[in-house]
Amino acid sequence: MGEADIAAELYGARPIVGIEIDEQIADRARARLGRDALVIAGDAEVWHPEAALAEPYAIADLDAFANPYRALAVFWAHAARAARIVIFGTDGMRLAIMQQKKRTYGPLPDGQIRMGTPAVNRHQWAHWWTSFVRPYLVDLVAPATISSERKYQRAHMLYWAVVVDRTVEPPAPDLNPTTGTAAEIASVEASLLEAAQSGNVPAAMYWLEHKGGPVWAKPGARAEYIPWLDDDGSSDGDAERVKLR
Ligand SMILES: C[S@@+](CC[C@H](N)C(=O)[O-])C[C@H]1O[C@@H](n2cnc3c(N)ncnc32)[C@H](O)[C@@H]1O
Repeated sequence: MGEADIAAELYGARPIVGIEIDEQIADRARARLGRDALVIAGDAEVWHPEAALAEPYAIADLDAFANPYRALAVFWAHAARAARIVIFGTDGMRLAIMQQKKRTYGPLPDGQIRMGTPAVNRHQWAHWWTSFVRPYLVDLVAPATISSERKYQRAHMLYWAVVVDRTVEPPAPDLNPTTGTAAEIASVEASLLEAAQSGNVPAAMYWLEHKGGPVWAKPGARAEYIPWLDDDGSSDGDAERVKLR
């Protein structure tokens, strides 16, 4: 929480919970924000039950200037969250691996520093957000999803923000045979068939692949195309003409 510069400036109209490890700094933040804020003097990497509010959290701002992921993991595991939540992170982790070419980080959220190879070190330095932070956040919030993200780098500090939305269930398919999904599929199939019959080779291949492909095979046996059968049940053996399913 620090001395609550950001909270005082930006979050004033909301219920605020802050966690600050330095008691004197926590006192100053408490005095500054007044009664409406709950300032807990303690370690944000441990869950404090009093931080559970009646309302769900809509913003989480993790600004310890080092590794924000341990506190985020604790928050995520315990706090009730709004259907949309914005998370801000201040990440100073690249500094430590920049200083020593063989240092690397273990998996987040702990991100324990350890000796690795210069190649991994360079990879983490160059692709920290893309290959390490972002995949960690995606996994953490699943089945919710990140619908928007921002980040910028100043010196060795990475500042990021993500908007996380609870996954919306896909609408049930419209099964109406004349207007619904099945009708749309039938119309696409009809045009593919027409293209195939008119000699459009890529379309024909597509159609054969997707429509006339193997339909069933005994376990372990090779799947066979089902040949086109004429009305009397005979087949002219034309391998490219396959039965519509
Ligand atoms: C960059 S300042 C935060 C500034 C704050 N965002 C503001 O608007 O004033 C970082 C603060 O995080 C605190 N801090 C560092 N590690 C912490 C931890 N594990 N738990 C709680 N606070 C921590 C530090 O004491 C420091 O006051």
